[in-house]
Amino acid sequence: MGSSATLCVALFLLLPPLLLQQARGKPPLGGCDFFQGKWVADASYPLYDASTCPFVQKEFDCLGNGRSDKLYLSYRWQPSGCLLPRFNGEEFLRQLRGKSIMFVGDSLSLNQWQSLTCMLHKFAPSANYTLTTVGGLSNFTFMEHGLKIMFLRKVFIVDIIDTKMGRVLKLNSIDSQKMWEGIDVLIFNSWHWWLHAGRKQPWDLIEDGKSTYKDMNRLVAFEKGLRTWAKWVDKSVDPSRIKVFFQGVSPDHSDGKLWGEIGGTCGGKTRLLDGLEYSGGPHPAEQAVERVLQGMSKPVYLLNITTLSQLRVDGHPSVYGSGGHRGMDCSHWCLAGVPDTWNEFLYAALLPNNKHHF
Ligand SMILES: *[C@@H]1O[C@H](CO)[C@@H](O)[C@H](O)[C@H]1NC(C)=O
Ligand SMILES: *[C@@H]1O[C@H](CO)[C@@H](O)[C@H](O)[C@H]1NC(C)=O
Ligand SMILES: *[C@@H]1O[C@H](CO)[C@@H](O)[C@H](O)[C@H]1NC(C)=O
Repeated sequence: MGSSATLCVALFLLLPPLLLQQARGKPPLGGCDFFQGKWVADASYPLYDASTCPFVQKEFDCLGNGRSDKLYLSYRWQPSGCLLPRFNGEEFLRQLRGKSIMFVGDSLSLNQWQSLTCMLHKFAPSANYTLTTVGGLSNFTFMEHGLKIMFLRKVFIVDIIDTKMGRVLKLNSIDSQKMWEGIDVLIFNSWHWWLHAGRKQPWDLIEDGKSTYKDMNRLVAFEKGLRTWAKWVDKSVDPSRIKVFFQGVSPDHSDGKLWGEIGGTCGGKTRLLDGLEYSGGPHPAEQAVERVLQGMSKPVYLLNITTLSQLRVDGHPSVYGSGGHRGMDCSHWCLAGVPDTWNEFLYAALLPNNKHHF
């Protein structure tokens, strides 16, 4: 990788005001927006083989579950204006020695967390690690490096509490912040659970301020919940010590209307969509995320992965997930696969100006 790419990365991430500018959707200095670009075939990918990742979860291990097409494994994201640095696990382990990273959110956070731990294990196969899951907290630690990479399952980020009236989703309350006190790198994500209704809906009432509702427009509720999170970040995060990311909304591909294939799903897809095929337009939840980030005073780095992942109709487990042939998973992603690229963005954002942020 040339020094111009490094320079581009450095310019892109230099200062908090730049991060804010990025969150406002303006191209950063140097004209290189990592998230504008295209997928290119690259035989040097994938970055690891899931069968050698001892802790990969069955639901993401598509090859292990019988998927036989492999084209989807060998795409690399190529930004239009610069190079995305290739993930180097040794460098990552060295630079983040002694640090703690936590993904907070739903199973898309789990997906990216698993991807990152597999990517690192590939580079340090003999490094000792511990992996524990207690309650909603999974803790992967590379002992010699003192590096902790955690996943905290908080599907709404804001709180749900049991009351006499039932389970209440509290849009204005974020008590679980205690769980991520002292963490150096936080990567948040939420969206998919806000849509769940019926049996899959884990709450009975929604509380907003002094009012309680039986239901509410889910996009509106999501945005209110995010604003609570944003207030917490603005009030509590010291950006010289803690780096905050938002993972961006991961698109699903269960509705072929979005790419002009009525009745289609991700099932059987072995090729990505080209940019013109995806007619679905911007994701409304992603637009809500951007509205909230725009109003924030502290820097939050948006992993702006929605649009580029919309093209990856080929990247989901489909029938090669945990549901086997009875289930069609067009929401999560196979590993190796698309979340590895999200982690390459994370890597690029964390390393070059590491000194500045920690
Ligand atoms: C995220 O990417 C999309 C598509 O490339 C773009 O329209 C949007 O402005 C970007 N958002 C930010 C905050 O940069
Ligand atoms: C891992 O732990 C074992 C036993 O504690 C030790 O012998 C070995 O040297 C460690 N490996 C590394 C790479 O430090
Ligand atoms: C995570 O695991 C490491 C190593 O076992 C341990 O030292 C640490 O306290 C754990 N962290 C949490 C939050 O459980």
